[in-house]
Amino acid sequence: MAASIKRIGILTGGGDCPGLNAAIRAVVKAGIGIHRLEIYGIETGFEGLIKKQARPLTLEDVRGIVNKGGTILGATRHHNPFQYQEKIGEETRTADRSRTVLQHASELGLDALVVLGGDGTLTIAERLWQMGLPLVAIPKTIDNDLPGTDVSIGFNTAVITAMEALDKLHTTAESHHRVMIVELMGNKAGWIGLESGIAGGADVILIPEVPFNIEKACEKIIERKQRGQPFSMVVVSEGARAIGHEEVYVDPRSRRLGGISHNVAEEIERRTGLESRVLVLGHLQRGGSPISFDRVLASRFGVHALGLILQRDFGKMVAFRKAEVISIPIREATAGLNLVDPNGDLALTAEALGISLGR
Ligand code: F6P
Repeated sequence: MAASIKRIGILTGGGDCPGLNAAIRAVVKAGIGIHRLEIYGIETGFEGLIKKQARPLTLEDVRGIVNKGGTILGATRHHNPFQYQEKIGEETRTADRSRTVLQHASELGLDALVVLGGDGTLTIAERLWQMGLPLVAIPKTIDNDLPGTDVSIGFNTAVITAMEALDKLHTTAESHHRVMIVELMGNKAGWIGLESGIAGGADVILIPEVPFNIEKACEKIIERKQRGQPFSMVVVSEGARAIGHEEVYVDPRSRRLGGISHNVAEEIERRTGLESRVLVLGHLQRGGSPISFDRVLASRFGVHALGLILQRDFGKMVAFRKAEVISIPIREATAGLNLVDPNGDLALTAEALGISLGR
């Protein structure tokens, strides 16, 4: 019979988002309070297992964090043990430190690991699981682009943050007879753009899944101007692109998206004669206090992840489907991206409301 589970580790990898602390708290509270486990917090994603930086988490450590954004464990994008960047003197070299991760997990006495991540972190987790590291995963990303779960931790809070920004910009757009162009995150997915745009009364929403025709988008703005509404709200997802064009990157080398809204603003001003202003909402969407939905989702995910570990049902990710928490193999969640269906209900609802998707 397999030895019983006594000590588990927990880490948060990739970009942070609201709700991570609520999930950590759930694992610690249920793990210690009910199952009498020891919980080790691994610092800054898998880097903590490469550098062997971990600390026991107590009930005191998770007191008062359910409403706190970010992660008490720290997070990084530079933690891939299969391609770990190490600084040696002046030089940086890339090394495979996956065996180190397994060795340190064993030296720390971890019987299992809970990994909170998006597609990048979960791809790493799946490979480490294949190498023999017993782990389960919890989906988190404001982009909501992980397949297999209807929603990930952080997404709904980000949508509210974006919607509130749109609400505020609306009044100034109206006063000044301007077009406000708001660039939102989401990576290759238009979920944040489309949902917050619908909720925030946008007139035009440009998302990566629907390459846009700027002329079509401007038709909407001109039509509004002609009927006495010389102002418009335009949402542009950072991954949106005009038909026949590439995405716009802040940094093409690292393929970090950003900047498309400035091109869109220039074109709108030229074609409609209306003054335009740009807001790139940026990391504001990743910060702040999680809304109740994310706190509850994170708590449910944390408790379910613990349940999987106790049943030794490793290699799984907890997922939310039709208001139930289930589990699926991690590899299902890392096979491709969950993108907006250009002809699905959400996109068609937007168009039925008179919002132009630029097509
Ligand atoms: O994946 C979450 C996300 O916020 C994306 O929406 C965005 O493209 C990216 O991360 C930004 O990454 P960074 O925090 O590295 O700038």
